[in-house]
Amino acid sequence: MKKIIIAIDGFSSCGKSTMAKDLAREIGYIYIDSGAMYRAVTLYCLENGLVENGQIKAEALKQHMDKICISFQLNPESGRPDTYLNGRNVEEKIRTMQVSSLVSPVAALDFVREAMVTQQQAMGKAKGIVMDGRDIGTTVFPDAELKIFVTASPEIRAQRRYNELKAKGQTVDFQEILENVKQRDYIDQHREVSPLRRADDALLLDNSHLSIEQQKQWLKEQFEKRTMI
Ligand code: DC
Repeated sequence: MKKIIIAIDGFSSCGKSTMAKDLAREIGYIYIDSGAMYRAVTLYCLENGLVENGQIKAEALKQHMDKICISFQLNPESGRPDTYLNGRNVEEKIRTMQVSSLVSPVAALDFVREAMVTQQQAMGKAKGIVMDGRDIGTTVFPDAELKIFVTASPEIRAQRRYNELKAKGQTVDFQEILENVKQRDYIDQHREVSPLRRADDALLLDNSHLSIEQQKQWLKEQFEKRTMI
């Protein structure tokens, strides 16, 4: 069966990574979480004095770019890839609130995007890859054989996040989460470099009213259509 590139883009909190990871595992492809790479650069900034008064020192970061090496290694316990920064497993560290709150400005820097896109394209050379993010179908792999653009209503995404945080025992306010979801959508769609946009040839998946099983089934069908030819 021929190997292809699968690009999954979409809004935050719409389950992109879960579906991308599950699909990759099922079809034996490599899964790359491109957001994790921007998070790893952000962690590097925090650990190397490149953040001052909550601002990224962009000029200094530019000088450090060639010292930042990001890779992924399969975790045999979870069956999923962990993110490594200069040879160190940072999978947990990149998911903290501190990193989350600084990653947007880092991901908006043109020289950071250029470096990450070059690394992402190298990872896709041999095909057989599922990559998720915001600009995969438009900028990283404009020729990807299968492109999916995932969305769900802001209310549904906020409700899912609310349930997740509640289950972790956190005190949460639905209205606050909804505002945050809408604000992130706006930033993602309006930033200057590589804004979030549906590629003309991407299939639209609105999963507002789909179960995980229904979504999996749909995705598998799209994959089979592209590879059986
Ligand atoms: O998907 P995520 O929340 O882990 O992404 C982290 C940040 O990186 C978020 O601000 C969006 C940004 N991002 C991006 O600009 N381009 C990508 N291909 C992936 C993520």
